[in-house]
Amino acid sequence: MKDEKRKNLKFDSKAIYYPHDKGSRSIGAPIFMSSSFQYGADVYNQVVDGERKSVNIYGRCGNPNEYQFEEQMIMIEGADACLATASGMAAISVALFGLLKSGDHIVCDWTTYSSTHEMLDHRLTDYGIETTFVDTSDLESVKKAINENTKVLYFESIANPSMKVPDFDALVDIAHSNNIVVVCDNTFASPYVIRPLDWGVDIVIESATKFIGGHNDALGGVIAMKSNLLPPDFMEQIRWNTMVKWGSPLSPFNAWVLLRGIQTLPVRLERQCKTAMILAEHFSSHDKIKRVWYPGLDSHPQHELAKKQMPKFGGMLTFEVDNGDDALTVLDNLELACFAASLGGVRTTTQIPATMAFLDISEEERQEMGIYQGMIRVSTGLEDPDDLIADFNAALSLI
Ligand SMILES: Cc1ncc(COP(=O)(O)O)c(C=O)c1O
Repeated sequence: MKDEKRKNLKFDSKAIYYPHDKGSRSIGAPIFMSSSFQYGADVYNQVVDGERKSVNIYGRCGNPNEYQFEEQMIMIEGADACLATASGMAAISVALFGLLKSGDHIVCDWTTYSSTHEMLDHRLTDYGIETTFVDTSDLESVKKAINENTKVLYFESIANPSMKVPDFDALVDIAHSNNIVVVCDNTFASPYVIRPLDWGVDIVIESATKFIGGHNDALGGVIAMKSNLLPPDFMEQIRWNTMVKWGSPLSPFNAWVLLRGIQTLPVRLERQCKTAMILAEHFSSHDKIKRVWYPGLDSHPQHELAKKQMPKFGGMLTFEVDNGDDALTVLDNLELACFAASLGGVRTTTQIPATMAFLDISEEERQEMGIYQGMIRVSTGLEDPDDLIADFNAALSLI
């Protein structure tokens, strides 16, 4: 099928289809487990002439499975270009270090994944790159934080773990009228739930480890781009200048696993979104639960915005019990749902954000991020919702 036709397919068809292997006629992708590729005079001359991606050279520079995964991500994100990396954090680091230099400034939402926050708050500062943290739902504070050195506005499409939903139109407008590149981490939503590039975001980040892979069995990251602000070859620049030099390529096997994951993304997410809504409604009327955060609930502060921006509300939700001890009792007594780090897999996973993912962040900063000790984050899997409700009810009855 021609690329143009492929681009016009509906999302589910785009996710399932990729061209078969010409040599073997295999409809499953072959895996190229090789760190190096045979040169010949023709290849040698192409490389010397500057043609690098189209020829395979060395595993750290890229591999055929990575390229195939990137093509598929271009399709489902509606991107013009894409770069796959070893993990979600590698994608965030490569994108930011590719975009920024010493003296530059970032405006970032208070609520992002903990390692992202720490990288902006500590690591980038070592290189003279400063960040101002704001609540992006307060548009005036975003405008106020922008200065002449601001190069990037950064937020998550559904924030981890507060479930805050950004106003894409307003934030993109503020950023672009100041020539600022908008970077959005779409990990919590996945491209099935929202495609930030369709809303004018310049760069989208995915931890493919999560919903894209979908089975808790492979790490990977994605940087996808569609931008009038960045040069068209920006992705190739950061592939060679940043990713290759930093040594963070996606392994061939992980690229193969993640490509397979994409094929079932729509059916998994359809079910996960439904289950998340069922759990959110159940938890909302549970007497041991103080509060539930889910964009699909009327009580969510950005529910109207979420309805406008997302056809579905995602597979992630957060609820709060009285304190950290109660949260631990609940999670330690779940039998069907897992008490584990990570999210987006076929099994329901739960964690206590304050003392797991955000353990290294100070309590004061956690409060700014809206992260409380009794919060429990749930990533819905594919189990029957009735069994999950019974599992949570049994564990909640112990507090
Ligand atoms: C929102 C978000 N972004 C990025 C990451 C980092 O992804 P990875 O663990 O694949 O490096 C995570 C990890 O949990 C995440 O939740």
